Amino acid sequence: MPVAAQKESFRVAQVRSSEAGEAYCFHQASAADDSHIWPRTAEELKALANDGCLFGVWRASREIVALVYMKLDGSLWELGGLTVDSSVQKNGIGTVLARFALANTIGYEQPWQNGQEIIAHVHEANQSPRNLLVRLGFEHAKPVEVPGDVAPASMKRNAAGNVIGDRFRFTPDGLRSLSRWFNDEFDGTLGRTSDVVEFDLTPATIEDIKEALAEIAQAMPPASTL
Ligand SMILES: CC(C)(COP(=O)(O)OP(=O)(O)OC[C@H]1O[C@@H](n2cnc3c(N)ncnc32)[C@H](O)[C@@H]1OP(=O)(O)O)[C@@H](O)C(=O)NCCC(=O)NCCS
Repeated sequence: MPVAAQKESFRVAQVRSSEAGEAYCFHQASAADDSHIWPRTAEELKALANDGCLFGVWRASREIVALVYMKLDGSLWELGGLTVDSSVQKNGIGTVLARFALANTIGYEQPWQNGQEIIAHVHEANQSPRNLLVRLGFEHAKPVEVPGDVAPASMKRNAAGNVIGDRFRFTPDGLRSLSRWFNDEFDGTLGRTSDVVEFDLTPATIEDIKEALAEIAQAMPPASTL
């Protein structure tokens, strides 16, 4: 008799300030080898975690296996840095994590009410997230070009030395389908594999807040220079 595959359990949650270092190691290991990904610094990821804008997926063994951030720039919320460890890709983890990040941002930040848009950028040579984004309700908005002297050195250039990609925008249909998925369709598993998904919506702990406050206070200039 065939032995049934053991189900895995994955926790999906905001990355706490105290976990930002671990998240950075994961991001760096993925982005360093991937010329399609805009590498973020440890400080950027820490700031995103402090703002509650960094989201991850952990195995039951507490190993981080996926990361994404929602980064506000002007009136644009960028869903960015979506990366899933190669050992667990094509199981639905990237899709679930992106949904979680979108739901948090839409629920707590209310982008539309504030005249903001949710977007994602994809390198022209990167096919891996395109179907995922369209399935979630993103649509192609426009091509984008980042001048070579602005883009990180690790990113793939075109013949003219610039980084070329596409901007996608999250649509109202995407929002309706996101709501349907959370309210009616999600059954607590990743779907086809039946691996268990647990959303951890615990608000930041007092320890996180204390740590963030200490860090912000330390970075403030002395009162005499204000
Ligand atoms: C893009 C990326 C994050 C997707 O993560 P993922 O966890 O593999 O995503 P999903 O599993 O949700 O979906 C990926 C595919 O697996 C398929 N899939 C999901 N569950 C499956 C299952 N149980 N069995 C078979 N296929 C499955 C999906 O249908 C999807 O197919 P498609 O995209 O070809 O239509 C991942 O490929 C990655 O880390 N890429 C490198 C970094 C990168 O380029 N990031 C994007 C930056 S913009």
